[in-house]
Amino acid sequence: MRLKDKVAIVTGAASGIGRATSLLLASEGAAVVVVDLDEEQGSQVVDLIERQGGRALFVRVDVSKAAEVAKMVETTVQAYGRLDCLVNNAGVCITGSTVDTDEALWDRVVDINLKGVWLCAKYAIPEMAKRGGGTVVNVGSTASLVGFSDLAAYSASKGGVANLTRAMALDAAPVKVRVNCVCPGHIDTPLGGGFVNAQADPQAFIKEFIVKRHPLGRMGQPEEVAKAIVFLCCDESSFVTGALLAVDGGYSAR
Ligand SMILES: NC(=O)c1ccc[n+]([C@@H]2O[C@H](COP(=O)([O-])OP(=O)(O)OC[C@H]3O[C@@H](n4cnc5c(N)ncnc54)[C@H](O)[C@@H]3O)[C@@H](O)[C@H]2O)c1
Repeated sequence: MRLKDKVAIVTGAASGIGRATSLLLASEGAAVVVVDLDEEQGSQVVDLIERQGGRALFVRVDVSKAAEVAKMVETTVQAYGRLDCLVNNAGVCITGSTVDTDEALWDRVVDINLKGVWLCAKYAIPEMAKRGGGTVVNVGSTASLVGFSDLAAYSASKGGVANLTRAMALDAAPVKVRVNCVCPGHIDTPLGGGFVNAQADPQAFIKEFIVKRHPLGRMGQPEEVAKAIVFLCCDESSFVTGALLAVDGGYSAR
């Protein structure tokens, strides 16, 4: 129960890494605000947490819309009286090279993956400060650390998340809010699967990219990323801020 009586918001919590993180945070004692666009799957996560004896609430929010994000924080405080942890996980991965990417695709990816991270932190940090501090964990990617071909907007957004993490850590340190970033490699989620299926030859891609390029020789599971996120949310990481933690089977060690 490393997060007993704490309150956490997880964005993109209806699926994949966000879902696994919500379940783990709840099992560690946190009340979880499950935030997503997908009400049906988000409500299923809430049901699962409640059936396991935890506390959770679904809030439908588009993280790229300031008014909705402000309401998300307000609803959290109304429901649970405080906010301790924010996991900025909502994201989309849409392929497109520098030349092929059109303006609408660029805006959509950067608005959700980068602007959404800033907006959620902007409204969450003042609430955390009221109770003496808290933690923000941003979900970056190996694309926060290296560039990827055919992923121009995604690489830009995730590179931005890495440096925004450092800037936010400096801004928030005086109010005792720690801000860190996990950088997953290829993870077995609907988003990870969609990326594989977008390749010309998905089977060859699994062999060449996933198995060969990840030194541990496999894709990761969402629960393995969730464990790193929970570590950064709780007091076990009490002197860690502004850090990027690769959870990538060694991908970025090359
Ligand atoms: N799966 C991977 O291989 C991988 C690798 C590196 C980084 N990541 C990152 O991990 C995060 C989670 O990815 P995942 O693989 O679990 O994906 P996923 O598609 O399983 O889940 C993402 C969730 O985000 C939600 N979402 C999308 N846009 C939203 C918005 N505007 N507002 C609120 N919610 C929104 C979706 O509805 C979905 O439930 C993303 O930021 C992704 O970039 C994933």
